Amino acid sequence: METTAASIQAVPLHPGLPFLGNTLAFLRNPLATLHTLQRNHDRIVHLRIGGRNQYLVLQPEDAKHVLQENHRNYGRSPAFEVLKIFLGNGLLTSDGDFWRRQRRLAQPAFHRQKLAALTQTMISETAIWLDELKQYDLDKSVNVSQAFMDVTMRIVCKTLFGSDTTGKLDGLSTALDSLNYLANKRMLSPIRFPLRWPTPNNLRSKRDRMQVDSFIYGVINQRREKNEQSDDLLGMLLSAEDEETGERMSDQQLRDESVTIFSAGHETTAVSMAWTIYLLTQHPDVLARLKTESQSVLGDERMPPPDAFRRLTYTLQVVQESLRLYPPAWIMSRRAHNDDHIGPYTIPAGDTALVCPYLLHRDPANWPDPDRFDPDRFAPGGPKENLHSYAYLPFGGGPRLCIGNQFALMEMPILLAMFVRDFDVKAVANERIIPKPLITLRPNQPIRALLS
Ligand code: HEM
Repeated sequence: METTAASIQAVPLHPGLPFLGNTLAFLRNPLATLHTLQRNHDRIVHLRIGGRNQYLVLQPEDAKHVLQENHRNYGRSPAFEVLKIFLGNGLLTSDGDFWRRQRRLAQPAFHRQKLAALTQTMISETAIWLDELKQYDLDKSVNVSQAFMDVTMRIVCKTLFGSDTTGKLDGLSTALDSLNYLANKRMLSPIRFPLRWPTPNNLRSKRDRMQVDSFIYGVINQRREKNEQSDDLLGMLLSAEDEETGERMSDQQLRDESVTIFSAGHETTAVSMAWTIYLLTQHPDVLARLKTESQSVLGDERMPPPDAFRRLTYTLQVVQESLRLYPPAWIMSRRAHNDDHIGPYTIPAGDTALVCPYLLHRDPANWPDPDRFDPDRFAPGGPKENLHSYAYLPFGGGPRLCIGNQFALMEMPILLAMFVRDFDVKAVANERIIPKPLITLRPNQPIRALLS
């Protein structure tokens, strides 16, 4: 419907406290607050959080409007400024024409055929990791959250830098992980000391950045000198040429994109894997079906051939359903450049639009019995196929759709199928796990499981 002056209505304001608005409710219990908003509002709700006006869209078609149809009206929200300190001006944090050029350059490295070359690395790193897990004292519970963080970090380092990490993987991944941790911490902290102050965190961050930069610039220099094509991600980014201008990325740009891919690519996957194991410990029937599939498709070879993983249909459904219930990127924010009209409502210029996959994925209007874990929702011909495409968006949507979505959807079934093929997994009694929405949707405590 065309918006006319007469049809404009104020977006319903969710009641809050004087001055503080809805800030305290969001700080105390963000997910419960979101569910309340979903129950009480139909389309868009106006919130006051941290002194800013924020507009949460509740319908898939409006999420599509913000992320895709009218995406040019929206830019990165102020939340991304902190990340820039650590990630530089990479794909996640940049905007406008600069982002468009970088995305054009990086996109080919993530094409399906290019990723196929990385599958072997994913399989071999998973096999090494499983061998190590088997050395653990399995009479005790295993910290599954940490174990998946370790393996996804190795996979992303190896797929980015290939054999250049030989002998350096531990130091590099520790420094990258520490940078990632400090970025998260600074983003969530209400008090941010200037970076030049010699606080312990600032000193640590400077040291980690120097270590990461010296590694990445060293590899870039060597590769430029050798002038050989290599098929890891860095090799693909190094040789990427802009179709329109013929330009390539500068060293600084390659550094920023590498750190961004590392950061965006490993924690999301690790958190999702830990949630998946948690769900499986609660649903032994699903676990049994999954195990049967992985054993029959993969056989007992330590490193099954890459082709085999394409036949793991139920495994992929389990991953998709886990991403529905616990989407690691649980909320996305955008700042409106100009007033935007959604039906009778206006999102004013300068304010923030919020799109929340966590809520959209649990909307009972689209997902009957939304809290139930049921991978058959994603079966071929199943209910998901009849839904609006933005009713399910764990990887976002529009031009800023996660560039690593195919990477993740290849990596997670590999990890999951090889893990459940090799181990029996049981819950640890009396653990109460609830989601804790930080930058990613983490469990409130590390997920532990009994492996045998
Ligand atoms: C389960 C795993 C993953 C999830 C749930 C996820 C989710 C997302 C989402 C929702 C966005 C869009 C954010 C926004 O629009 O504000 C995004 C962007 C991004 N993701 Fe992922 N991601 C995952 C894995 C990966 C992997 C494996 C990589 C790289 C290897 C990666 C690299 C990126 C990058 C570089 C961006 C920024 C893209 C741009 O703005 O052009 N992600 N991710």
